[in-house]
Amino acid sequence: MDSNVRPESMVRITTPELADAFIKEQVEALQKQIGDGKVLLALSGGVDSSVVAALLIKAIGKNLTCVHVNHGLLRKGEPEQVIEVFRNQMNANLVYVDATDRFLDKLAGVSDPEQKRKIIGAEFIAVFEEEAKKIEGVKFLGQGTIYPDILESDGVKAHHNVGGLPEKFGFELVEPVKLLFKDEVRVVGKQLGLPDSMVYRQPFPGPGLGVRCTGAITRDRLEAVRESDAILREEFANAGLQGKVWQYFTIVPDYRSTGVKDGKRLWDWPVVIRAVNTKDAMTATVEEIPWPLLNKITQRILAEVKGVNRVLYDLSPKPCATIEWE
Ligand code: XMP
Repeated sequence: MDSNVRPESMVRITTPELADAFIKEQVEALQKQIGDGKVLLALSGGVDSSVVAALLIKAIGKNLTCVHVNHGLLRKGEPEQVIEVFRNQMNANLVYVDATDRFLDKLAGVSDPEQKRKIIGAEFIAVFEEEAKKIEGVKFLGQGTIYPDILESDGVKAHHNVGGLPEKFGFELVEPVKLLFKDEVRVVGKQLGLPDSMVYRQPFPGPGLGVRCTGAITRDRLEAVRESDAILREEFANAGLQGKVWQYFTIVPDYRSTGVKDGKRLWDWPVVIRAVNTKDAMTATVEEIPWPLLNKITQRILAEVKGVNRVLYDLSPKPCATIEWE
């Protein structure tokens, strides 16, 4: 039987009890596959890689090494959360690499979106490879492949020009959630004790905030993306919208407009808010954010984010617009 095909008899994991049974079965299977071998895992902090990490920690403990690469394009608080959950709470072997300067130097002056994606993908592999070489005797590579990745090798993800981890390593793959759908991965993650903010996290593209800081990325504009995104997320959470709206974020385009503050004319950036709902990311509709909430977010962004003088709301469905701006 093809191990990449979900058997029709496989029960959909919808309850804590079913998740417990899956965890028990997978831990045993992982122990059998890996024995006393060593596993390496690129841990982004997204739900898929986090669930794989938690399963592997349960199965093989310190024989797993997680590598968390901070490419400088993560959202506010993300690297800190990965370190807190996996190193401090789960006592995992975690290598944290702050490669911000390296990525931003390579991206300096690059404005073509596909070129940006390629640089981020290639640099990610280079950093990961360097870390992999430092660890002796690794035979296995953990991966957060989920069933839609297998089904949709022709779908949305395949169109995004981000390299996968290199086959040239010759590692044997360890993919314990490859037959699960996203909602099942979340039920398993919850049962493994991962925090809700990780388990119910909205999708986040591999190239991160890099595709939301349009054109050539600069550090100050990137900071404006990160800070405005943090305000948006905080206000959505306060309004009870976290987990209800499929994806919401901010974009800071690379053009300025005039403004005025304290009697002085400004030449600053706009922040664009995007909030959409979708089932499969192939089409999307715009969330109807209540006006008072939009107003509150706008006031906060204008008051708290440096270099910004306007806030706009993107009313465009997909199609014609894509969800991301690049
Ligand atoms: P678009 O912008 O194509 O996005 O409507 C559809 C979904 O895919 C996510 N996305 C990406 N995910 N690498 C990823 O892993 C990427 O380069 C990438 N670009 C877009 C996007 O956030 C949305 O959920």
